[in-house]
Amino acid sequence: MIKSLKSRLTEDQPENLNPDTEGFDFDDYSDQSRAEETRVLYNQSSFPQFPVSIVDDFLEEKDRKLISLHLHKVLSDSFMLYLKSLNFHWNVKGSHFLTLHQLFDEQAKELIVAIDSIAERIRALGFAVPATFSELSQATTIKEEKSVLNSDHMISILCESQTEVIRTIYQVLEKIDPLQDLPTTDLLTGRLFTHQKNVWILKSLMN
Ligand SMILES: [Fe+2]
Repeated sequence: MIKSLKSRLTEDQPENLNPDTEGFDFDDYSDQSRAEETRVLYNQSSFPQFPVSIVDDFLEEKDRKLISLHLHKVLSDSFMLYLKSLNFHWNVKGSHFLTLHQLFDEQAKELIVAIDSIAERIRALGFAVPATFSELSQATTIKEEKSVLNSDHMISILCESQTEVIRTIYQVLEKIDPLQDLPTTDLLTGRLFTHQKNVWILKSLMN
């Protein structure tokens, strides 16, 4: 059962505060209608129930479709990078074997979690995820690596592919920006942070 807002506030606030209004400065709002709206929300007895179709209320179907298509491109790039990282995790050789074997494994594992989040965002936007290998490989520009490479070459190839995903994400963010889909923007911004960190780590391993 959902607890009432008042009971949560009572638990969270010091005893001498009135949980209805104290501890919240409504005058912080320069926009008085927004202040009133917030006051009503704050004082109501239970949490508002979000409708199941919350996404529908904020984004039209054509916009959700457009965002999903862009997300599928990021998903496909990320999946190809995942496969490449796993390939190199398995096949790396040389004096830095253990470091690189573990690093490529960490990057692959992080990617598989991210891929899941991206795919589930497409579902939340109301669309199925094209997820066969051919559908994913058609939507990405990241090339498969068919030959067995030396470790320096693996690092540089991974660095290029990570950078390619970054480029895709920036392009997608620019295209979906006018739609103000904040959860998707947040998801992709987080991906940028991780891919840029990966580029830094990989570049630091280069001679
Ligand atoms: Fe492994």
